[in-house]
Amino acid sequence: MIDNLVYNLFLSKLTPLAYKQFFDLVEPKSSILDIGVGNGLMLKTLHKRVKELELTIHGVDLSEKYLKQCRKLIKKYDLTKQMRVENLDFLAADFGETKYDIVFFSQSFPLIDDKAGALEKAKAILAPGGKMIFCQTMQSDHAPVMEFIKPKLKYVSTIDFGRVTYETAYEKLLADAKLKESARHHLLKVNKDAEAMLIVVEG
Ligand SMILES: C[S@@+](CC[C@H](N)C(=O)[O-])C[C@H]1O[C@@H](n2cnc3c(N)ncnc32)[C@H](O)[C@@H]1O
Repeated sequence: MIDNLVYNLFLSKLTPLAYKQFFDLVEPKSSILDIGVGNGLMLKTLHKRVKELELTIHGVDLSEKYLKQCRKLIKKYDLTKQMRVENLDFLAADFGETKYDIVFFSQSFPLIDDKAGALEKAKAILAPGGKMIFCQTMQSDHAPVMEFIKPKLKYVSTIDFGRVTYETAYEKLLADAKLKESARHHLLKVNKDAEAMLIVVEG
């Protein structure tokens, strides 16, 4: 309960903004794999948009506790035909023959240790013409304070925000996975002090 409260405080600004812009980038009727779907906070403001766009969303997350909250919202907004969530580690999950139009790392990529492996896996489950989309904060300059603080946020918030992502390291990962050429960056202004990026990559 308290965990969920703190989670909502941290992500209450960025999450609705990020998903709103994300939904503006996807085609109607897309099938979406949301990696790190969390507690489904975005549904509170965007449930109508999910219906309007006739999206199919498969959410996966390591935390059953957050998924419990998410399932409640799916039910509350009558989205059980369009959205389902599972307690899975993306890296270990077997998606069988399923392919997705969109693979969305919704602030989960910085938490994944094997990032190169995650990119390969995401590529393999993309439908032809599909896209990978990332939402995350990104540092262009050396940020020692953030480097120190970010991994420790999980101790005060119970949400793991992973480590600082530097643009250069991220660009190298995309280049190594042969995805850099098609990457398009969209800035997300959260407030005057905070911004994040939505990065769209053609698979
Ligand atoms: C910062 S939260 C973001 C939640 C939500 N997508 C949002 O934007 O508000 C990141 C989520 O990614 C999940 N996560 C981290 N690594 C994961 C993995 N390997 N597989 C699935 N979920 C993962 C965490 O459990 C956490 O709920």
